[in-house]
Amino acid sequence: MSKKRIFSGVQPTNNIHIGNYFGAIKNWVDVQDQFDCIFSVVDLHAITVYQKPEDLRQNILKIAKTYLALGINPKKCLIFQQSDVKEHAELCWILNSIAKMGELERMTQYKDKSASHPENINVGLFDYPVLMAADILLYNTQAVPVGEDQKQHLELARDLAIRFNSLYGETFIVPEPMIKKEGCRIMGLDNPYKKMSKSAPSSYNYISLLDSPEEAKKKIMKAVTDSGSEIKFDTEKPALCNLLTIYSQLSGEIISNIVEKYTGRGYGDFKKDLSELVANFLVDFQKKFNAISDEEVQELLVKGAKKARKIAEKKMEEVKEKIGIKI
Ligand code: TYM
Repeated sequence: MSKKRIFSGVQPTNNIHIGNYFGAIKNWVDVQDQFDCIFSVVDLHAITVYQKPEDLRQNILKIAKTYLALGINPKKCLIFQQSDVKEHAELCWILNSIAKMGELERMTQYKDKSASHPENINVGLFDYPVLMAADILLYNTQAVPVGEDQKQHLELARDLAIRFNSLYGETFIVPEPMIKKEGCRIMGLDNPYKKMSKSAPSSYNYISLLDSPEEAKKKIMKAVTDSGSEIKFDTEKPALCNLLTIYSQLSGEIISNIVEKYTGRGYGDFKKDLSELVANFLVDFQKKFNAISDEEVQELLVKGAKKARKIAEKKMEEVKEKIGIKI
């Protein structure tokens, strides 16, 4: 029996953080033997917020290197750059014709991003979820491993697949979300009520995978904590819950064990140990990251694009046939 296919991607914007790792890439690494995996560097999504061209070029390579350094095996998984496969933009246009303004207006990410970039509420930002649906549907994807913030976008991808199929006949697989229970929503270190974000105004919000270990330690020690000093996993202590989740994701220990370990000890001890865990993780990651050359990763992306194109071209032929534009 053939393996189920999964597809996912990360935008090459700013610095990738531990939330992206715990919410998405860690899951990809864990399931790469079980599934037929396609992971993209979604550069066309990134430009919906202005990126300096020279930074974007570097960030595309950085994201691909990050996939490898975190443990994605390029022999098992297809890794490619989204803009290398023109069918993404082509299918996006076709899906635009069945997507409704109202459903896009409801998207939380669009509302948040347009509020934080009022000077650049562009059409691409609005249409972002339709391009994401195209990414997924082009590859006959059965499941999409992402963080919790992408759930609404996945629902749209499902709705568009169902709508297209009912208008033109069975064409797209309706993809399932694959969202982990723990680590799917890492919160900001400076504000436990908002998710950790690459574009947060303060760098004390996140731990970037490329932060120096010393910098990262400082960020953990400075992370906001809740009132009281007891270590417990309680919704009334959102900051501590977040730190416990980060501890658990890094150490592999279950949260109840961590709580037990720190019972009777204060936040100080806990944070100090967590900062060591984070620093050790970063040292290990960065060693692997720095050992990968630009050339190596460029070559991998070229090869990946060739394979991705084959799948995407075939799907587009089918789509064109179905909607009546292939004569
Ligand atoms: P992006 O680049 O914003 O985020 C990459 C992945 O990281 C997850 N994530 C988080 N998980 C836990 N806690 C957080 N604080 C956190 N912040 C981000 C995201 O859920 C995501 O899985 N739209 C996507 C990129 C995309 C895509 C796709 C994904 C484009 N096309 C097709 C899957 C399939 C995004 O914004 O990623």
